Amino acid sequence: MNGPVLCVVGARPNFMKMAPILRALAAHEPPIPVLLVHTGQHYDEQMSDQLFRDLKLPRPDINLEVGSGSHAVQTAEVMRRFEPLLDEHHPSCVIVVGDVNSTLACTLVAVKKHVPVVHVEAGLRSGDRLMPEEINRVLTDQVADRLYTTERSAADNLAREGVAAERVCFTGNVMIDSLLSSREAARDPAQTLAAHGLDPALLALGYGVVTMHRPSNVDDPATLEALLRTLGEVAQKLPLVFALHPRTRGNIERFGLDALLDARRTALLPPQGYLEMLGLMSRATLMLTDSGGLQEESTALGVPCLTLRENTERPITVEQGTNTLVGRDRQAILQSVEQVLSGQGKRGRVPELWDGHAAERIAADLWQWLRNRAS
Ligand code: UD1
Repeated sequence: MNGPVLCVVGARPNFMKMAPILRALAAHEPPIPVLLVHTGQHYDEQMSDQLFRDLKLPRPDINLEVGSGSHAVQTAEVMRRFEPLLDEHHPSCVIVVGDVNSTLACTLVAVKKHVPVVHVEAGLRSGDRLMPEEINRVLTDQVADRLYTTERSAADNLAREGVAAERVCFTGNVMIDSLLSSREAARDPAQTLAAHGLDPALLALGYGVVTMHRPSNVDDPATLEALLRTLGEVAQKLPLVFALHPRTRGNIERFGLDALLDARRTALLPPQGYLEMLGLMSRATLMLTDSGGLQEESTALGVPCLTLRENTERPITVEQGTNTLVGRDRQAILQSVEQVLSGQGKRGRVPELWDGHAAERIAADLWQWLRNRAS
């Protein structure tokens, strides 16, 4: 192996996936040298810095500081700023994780410069090409050289798209590595509320955790209003803790929907750190979310999850885990909440290879794969 392995992170869900990979590459015998590149897609204290601290991620060796923008601007800016790094550092490969714009942007740059691309969390498909993440997934997987998957259905998706089976390796779920190694450090939910001046008594008899940030749920005023009204009804049955993503908070303000959030029944929080969120989720009665990561984390924690989407790229969370797709329909959401509250929530089981050792399997395979390529 010649140059370092260049590990790319950009947005919040990348951080919990890369943290265990970096640890496993360092612990590998012999250690695998890395450079950590942050594209700066997410950049502020709440969306980035706090997660770095919580996950014990090292300071990035390089920060491209691209910031926010339209899809085209953000993707193009990452590509423009990433390209010189490959000339400078001659990496033996680039590791990208997940499905955000930074994932695809760095993949495109690397593959055209003949630097091998390794995609962690490959092969997930929602079938919904209106989701920007689905485009990022499909295109990244088409050109990546080594693809590590989190569930067996991913290999079927890749085979259907003509990806050779030899490129694919089922290693399990690195995000669950992070969850299992951080569980003991998770913050007490009462403290999390108190830190924001909110009364923890709200949580005493159980609570639901809400996150919502998909453009399809929060960018259209009528859709967002209907969802907030339904959440208001849910909150009358079960107090909610709603961690507001900046996109969602911005749109609630812009569309003048603030009054729909009843502070007596809903604790409104800014985006939470990893350990705060883990604490909140671990003790929740249920989750209501449109996040991909939370669908998996709730399955690993055994907490019923009602997903505010019509589809999921993570079918194993529905088939084996605690996830139910409830979409945006008021009646369906209220009915599913009732079911959980009457003790009929899904209990589920933890899927194969979500065992806390996925990153070690990736490091072992990657080492061998790089050696084979070099010989
Ligand atoms: C991105 C990912 C999405 C992921 C989500 C997690 C893509 C296409 N989308 O969506 O898959 O689930 O991150 O959060 O890559 N902002 C801040 N601080 C930040 C970053 C962003 O306030 O540090 C605000 C900006 O106003 C920005 C908005 O959040 O316009 C959206 O950020 P952006 O990265 O464009 O998309 P996300 O919705 O976060």
